[in-house]
Amino acid sequence: MTKIRKMALVLSALLFLLTNCKETKSTESAQEPTKVPTSLKSSFAKSFYLGAAINESQIMETDAKGIAVINREFNTLTPENNMKWMYLQPTPNSFDFTFADKYVALGEKMDMFVVGHTLVWHSQLPNFMHSVKDSAAMATHIKNHIHTVMGRYKGRIHAWDVVNEALNEDGSLRQSLFQQVLGDDYIEYAFQLASQADPEAKLIYNDYNLWKPEKRAGVVRLVKRLQEKGIQVDGVGMQAHWSLEGPSLEDIENSIIAYSELGVKVQFTELDVTALPNPWEVEGAEVSQNYEEYEGDLSMDPYRTGLPDSVQTKLANRYQEIFELFLKHQDKIDRVTFWGVNDGGSWLNGWPIKGRTNHPLLFDRNFAPKKAYTQVLALKKKDKLSFHQTTKK
Ligand code: XIL
Repeated sequence: MTKIRKMALVLSALLFLLTNCKETKSTESAQEPTKVPTSLKSSFAKSFYLGAAINESQIMETDAKGIAVINREFNTLTPENNMKWMYLQPTPNSFDFTFADKYVALGEKMDMFVVGHTLVWHSQLPNFMHSVKDSAAMATHIKNHIHTVMGRYKGRIHAWDVVNEALNEDGSLRQSLFQQVLGDDYIEYAFQLASQADPEAKLIYNDYNLWKPEKRAGVVRLVKRLQEKGIQVDGVGMQAHWSLEGPSLEDIENSIIAYSELGVKVQFTELDVTALPNPWEVEGAEVSQNYEEYEGDLSMDPYRTGLPDSVQTKLANRYQEIFELFLKHQDKIDRVTFWGVNDGGSWLNGWPIKGRTNHPLLFDRNFAPKKAYTQVLALKKKDKLSFHQTTKK
């Protein structure tokens, strides 16, 4: 073979390789659209965990449709009720872990980021706690509860709402049972105990209306106080029980930034968007609020037979703008959890007015994805095409 022929051969081999590579690449990009993930958890995997609070029939796996959605769409779970104090320790020192054990096992089976909700909260407490008036006795109860519950699931529950709803709307400390009997320091006490019980778990302060400037300032004071004392606190959980009208994106954004500047992560722990009119005083999520006078009042319950298209669209747009904001701040946010799986299971059918038909989530009463679901997912498709994401966790 002459030198020239050899060179020609090498060149054509190179050319063949190059064209082939190019072809493979262009085939890949041509296939890209079919590869776009179609579940919330896969679409948002690089941004933050996405999850739902689950109820007892989901924990017991008797709600087959709910379980299918949970498995397909989410990578983090919260127990809606079954780990609250009144259920775990209904009488002094006698614990019932039936549902909590099932919940944690289910989370592991589904490979979830498992959240514990909640350790120290003034609502859904057992009766016996209301009669504890002595500070030493109260301290012992809190210690026993936190150590027993967290100790049991050490290494298996990845994040805990340690203290829930300790602040008033003006940012001052709520005069809760704990505050009255133990004083303001009960919060640091609880976080200290939690940190001892499972040093690996993420410890969260959780509350509603944390978009409010005054309440935001209260959280900032609370977290700083813990930090100054060297007490572990890893996150601020913004419950996010919101409506079609409010809060404003600006208020939410300012809170995300303020909490993140403290060096902690932000979680949206209980997201839902009510589509129904509310009694004018209701802003937030105080579970003891109950407006009996409106029960059966159809003007307060206008969508009993379904959401009209115009409201469905409003809900979808509201969810879209909320998730756009979350994506903008994905470096500061590590989890977004819906408070329920589908509309039929939402607590907002019973709060703050009993017996209504609400539509606050991404899945309807038949567990079918709503327009809001499609628009939230579409954000990731756009996002994928428009900018490169940084890998997370
Ligand atoms: C709610 C549950 O969803 C209801 O089923 C229950 O009757 C009352 O509590 N803030 C919280 C949650 O931290 O635990 C509350 O959950 C909603 C408000």
